[in-house]
Amino acid sequence: NAGGIKAGKTRNIIEKLEESGKNCIIFYGSQTGTAEDYASRLAKEGKSRFGLETMVADLEDYDYDNLDAIPSDKVVMFILATYGEGEPTDNAVDFYEFITGDEPQFSESNDPPLGNLNYVAFGLGNNTYEHYNSMVRNVNKALEKLGAHRIGDAGEGDDGAGTMEEDFLAWKDPMWAALAEKMGLEEREAVYDPIFSVVERDELTKEDHEVYLGEPNKMHLEGSAKGPFNAHNPYIAPIAESTELFAVKDRNCLHMEVDVSGSNLSYQTGDHIAIWPTNPGEEVDRFMDILDLTEKRHNVISVKALEPTAKVPFPTPTTYDAVVRYHMEICSPVSRQFLSQLAAFAPDEESKAEMTRLGSDKDYFHEKVAIHHLNIARVLKVASKGKKWTNVPFSILIESVTKLQPRYYSISSSSLVQPKKISITAVVEKQEIPGREDPFRGVATNYLLALKQKQHGDPNPEPFGVSYEITGPRNKYDGIHVPVHVRHSNFKLPSDPSKPVILIGPGTGVAPFRAFVQERAKQAENGENVGKTILFFGCRRKSEDFIYEKEWEQYKNILGDNFELVTAFSRDGPKKVYVQHRLQERGKEINDLLEKKAYIYVCGDAANMAREVNATIGRILAQNRGIPETKAEEIVKNMRAANQYQEDVWS
Ligand code: FAD
Ligand code: 2AM
Repeated sequence: NAGGIKAGKTRNIIEKLEESGKNCIIFYGSQTGTAEDYASRLAKEGKSRFGLETMVADLEDYDYDNLDAIPSDKVVMFILATYGEGEPTDNAVDFYEFITGDEPQFSESNDPPLGNLNYVAFGLGNNTYEHYNSMVRNVNKALEKLGAHRIGDAGEGDDGAGTMEEDFLAWKDPMWAALAEKMGLEEREAVYDPIFSVVERDELTKEDHEVYLGEPNKMHLEGSAKGPFNAHNPYIAPIAESTELFAVKDRNCLHMEVDVSGSNLSYQTGDHIAIWPTNPGEEVDRFMDILDLTEKRHNVISVKALEPTAKVPFPTPTTYDAVVRYHMEICSPVSRQFLSQLAAFAPDEESKAEMTRLGSDKDYFHEKVAIHHLNIARVLKVASKGKKWTNVPFSILIESVTKLQPRYYSISSSSLVQPKKISITAVVEKQEIPGREDPFRGVATNYLLALKQKQHGDPNPEPFGVSYEITGPRNKYDGIHVPVHVRHSNFKLPSDPSKPVILIGPGTGVAPFRAFVQERAKQAENGENVGKTILFFGCRRKSEDFIYEKEWEQYKNILGDNFELVTAFSRDGPKKVYVQHRLQERGKEINDLLEKKAYIYVCGDAANMAREVNATIGRILAQNRGIPETKAEEIVKNMRAANQYQEDVWS
């Protein structure tokens, strides 16, 4: 619908620029919110430092056929994450296909087509994946080919090396300098110019029915939520079952089943489920306390965008408490840039100086903040030595704290066996941090743990010191329901069950393979011809974290010799044994299976395991086929391209 109107909003970027008087548009392609965050940070910085009229735009919300009509006194920024196997993020698929297509059709017939377009590009990627930052690289190439003019370098951030934030900071300053020169911009003293107004609504109380208390949208508020359930609209699913899979006290791994029979949600074996978490009560309290919001936390506020192009990231009227608890990623790492920005609102000169130093001195920040895994409230408290931050406008928090993101899990059940019950296998994220009193805890997995305890009527709901407000808004999030949606993936069993499969999944990487094996056992029971299934599973100790141990035996009873489980217990013997070592030991058999067109699947840790497994498979091919390793690597690449080698990995 090029140039068309959707839901009363224009999809025409030229119209949008004209009606809003903007001269800098920042498009983002984002999956987990980081690229979107960087886009809004650039928008704010461009405005406050250089007086640019910036707007942030979701690539999904506009058409691209008139990029050629953007005048040369304007600039377009592309902040593009690469997702999974070098794919565009969901919201950037159409743009990517258009711009990298053979001959994108533009509205005018300029030669070159994008000769007027000035652009800036930054990519978010992960070097542990083969197609590192391929999204920004390919888009950049396509734009260059179309004659567009890039300002500054095309930046690349690396999540794999853990340097994303620093890569971004190092890229943006030279970019701003080049842009200022190109557009004749003068730098000025940065001033905070709010994008949102926050007005307290004294006439309303949190009991009033129009006030959102964490409901994600109007349908939820009205109690009439209907599908489609997606990344904008979760289904609040009853938890059918939750159990502990580890046999040790100090670590937890949850098996949880959510019942989607009351919805039209469907999934296919190999898909992902998204869990919409709630922030832990103690971190919400810490945030409220240091920002001096405790007393007014339940006051009703309306938030409005002061700019036509800005979107309020949650529904209003609402309360401070609901915004912080359900919509802000308050536990995540903080950026140095945000600390510099907050320095202006410090309670005294000493705290201001400390914040300025943390914001500008990379090593100091590392030593004081990063290694302790401090979140924003904890940093503020340390920086001000406990003094309350009474002057921070709530609008700056809305603008700068990331939107609370759903977390994805590889579904560990088969849709053939249980189409309306989705199971999750999640290890609870808890790390002891040297020099810190309490351990660091992941948001979503500890939320799931709290839900499990609530569901079991655990008399001590806070065994780990975390109190989740799990009886959420109007009891909809009552602790035995969890908001979810399903994301379809390409990680799929071969359509012909007689093909052999090799499954490699240590730790919770085994999640989708439980689904795969469950599915193949069912197919065998149904009388289908099911090929060999060989599963490589690794964990620390047989007696501690060997998850689904009993279930594998049941599948073995059904599948017989056609199913084999190969285990690697890394800490039971004198030497570490990993799944790739077991693969190597079985090299000849693996090679034979691959010659019979077996499919290989790898799931779990992207950083090391998946890479080492990839190298091991290459080595096995080289050794058993008597070919050079480079040739073997090529074969593995081709297998990937043909979907014969599939990965479902995360870091
Ligand atoms: P978070 O709060 O998101 O923290 C995650 C990590 O971020 C921390 O470990 C830490 O390294 C860093 N971090 C967060 N806050 C800070 C801070 N303040 N300072 C420094 N570092 C910080 N997991 C499973 O267990 N099972 C699965 O089947 C599974 N499947 C997945 C499938 C896909 C496609 C993807 C992308 C991920 C999958 N994951 C799976 C991982 C899962 O999505 C979550 O990332 C994981 O459960 C942690 O979530 P959390 O909210 O508990 O932790
Ligand atoms: P370790 O923690 O004892 O080193 C699940 O986490 C299992 O994966 C554990 O047994 C863990 O072993 C193992 N593991 C750690 N690093 C790995 C790697 N690079 N490749 C394969 N397995 C690994």
